[in-house]
Order: sequence, then C-alpha cells, then structure tokens
Amino acid sequence: MTEQILHHVEEGVLSLTFNRLERKNAIAVAMYAALADALEQAGGDPAVRVAVIQGHETVFTAGNDLADFLNHRPGGEESPAFRFLRAIAAFEKPLIAAVCGPAVGIGTTLLFHCDLVYAGDNAAFSMPFVNLGLCPEAASSLLVPRMFGYHRAAEALLLGEPFRAETALEWGLVNRIVPPAECNALAQTQARRLAAKPLASLIATKQLMKGGTQADEVRARMAAEGEQFAQLLPAPAAREAMTAFMEKRTPDFKGL
Ligand code: COA
Repeated sequence: MTEQILHHVEEGVLSLTFNRLERKNAIAVAMYAALADALEQAGGDPAVRVAVIQGHETVFTAGNDLADFLNHRPGGEESPAFRFLRAIAAFEKPLIAAVCGPAVGIGTTLLFHCDLVYAGDNAAFSMPFVNLGLCPEAASSLLVPRMFGYHRAAEALLLGEPFRAETALEWGLVNRIVPPAECNALAQTQARRLAAKPLASLIATKQLMKGGTQADEVRARMAAEGEQFAQLLPAPAAREAMTAFMEKRTPDFKGL
C-alpha cells in the first residue's frame, strides 16, 4: 500500500484519501493499484459497510499522473487503472465522495460511480480528455450525457469546459455544497449514518438502482473506451499535449 493513498477503517467506514499534495493528488500507477486493492478487498470484508473517497480541502485530484501517461501506457484490462475503474463500477456497498478544489479527468468521472457526492464550494470539475488528445474513460461517454443531457455533456467532453460546484449541483452530480473545511466531515457523517443501516438492504437497493442493463452497458462502454484510449495515448496529439503540460506551454495541435 502506497502512502499516497491513506487507508483507514473505522465504525464500518473505509476511508481512502488522496495524499500526494505536491503533485495535486495526481494518481500514479501505484495509487490506482492501492485504490483497486482496497475496494476489491472491502467488497468481501464484513468490517467495511461503506467506502469514502476524499482528498484535501484544496484539491481532490489532478487526475491521472501525466508523467505516467507519457511513460507507461495503461497496459490493458489488467492494468491498475482499469482494475480501479472496474472496482468502483462493481462496488456493491455504498460509495461516497468528498470533492474540494480541482477534480480533473478521472477525478470527475469516478464520481458518476459514487452513490453520494459532497462538494466544497471551491470544487472545480473538468474532463479535458480531448484537450489531451484522449477520449473519455470510466464509461463517462455513457454516464455524462445520461445525467447532464447531450449538449451539456458535449461542452464538458468535447470542449473540455470546466464547471463549478453550483453547476454540478444543478446537473445532478453533487448532492450538497458546503465550505471546503466541512466537506470531508460531512461525507464521514453520512457514511456513518449509512454504516448503521442493514447492509443487505443497502446492497440490494443499490443493486436494484444500478444493476441489470445499466451495469452491462457500463462494462461494455468501459471496454470500448479502453480500446480507443489505447490507440490515442501513444499517438502524436496526446504526446504533444502531455509534453506541453510538463514544459508549461500551450500545446500545438497544428496538423494533428
Ligand atoms: N500529473 C502529473 N503532475 C501533475 C499533474 C498531473 N496530472 N497535475 C499537476 N501536476 C504537478 C505540476 O506539474 C506541478 O509540478 P511542479 O511543481 O514540478 O511544477 C505540481 O503538480 C503543481 O501543479 P500546478 O499546475 O502548479 O498547480 P495549480 O494549482 O496551478 O493547478 C491543476 C492545479 C490541477 C488545475 C493543474 O495542475 C492541472 O491542470 N493539472 C493537469 C490536469 C490533467 O490534465 N490531468 C489529466 C486528466 S486525464
């Protein structure tokens, strides 16, 4: 378990906390592995009834580590990133997120797999996959249009337009907005409320809301996105976008 993901179980609540502030909680390969391992294990652990994913009050996560994207390709279905995506989509127990500050890329797309999302009033959501020469992941190409409506989804996914907490609340991604210093505490309070309820009823209710056809669609869409993503990641546009970020310059997509 990497120290960049803090892992804590108390009163039936598993808390997973991004802890890589010097890189704005960007998610490196070992962090995906730690998150996937924790969720896979929690699924069968009677001591865990609810899971919370949280960050710092200044930043949730800057998304995938861009240096990792340049150096390691996702590596197919068994890569830690794909394992994490499968784990959040298949997690049977309630999953809560507390989001403050930037939530970039997978920092936003993972929220579509959570049951409750609480946001600090400084939360800034973005899915800049196209700006990085990539395409959506985490079945966001399915779930974002479904929740936001197609045209709002197109602004978020084609233009990569960021949106703030109030917009996320209005469009249904967020349950409640609070001051950043209160966000993780609110998620913990709600998690403890859920942990006190009968687990089999929670699991059955979540399964009835999210299972069946939707679960099959999500799995199929993740696989389809993964194929496109794997082709785009090594291509020149993505190389240019990520190198430009590292070199702190604007990417030049002329001819790409
Ligand atoms: N991968 C790797 N390093 C990252 C990173 C990422 N996704 N996001 C931030 N960092 C690094 C920066 O390179 C910087 O490193 P440095 O101190 O060596 O210069 C450090 O973290 C601090 O980031 P900085 O950009 O200076 O912070 P900020 O507060 O000005 O902006 C963000 C925060 C999240 C808005 C901005 O860092 C950002 O846009 N990051 C990239 C997001 C992204 O495209 N993610 C991939 C999505 S698929």
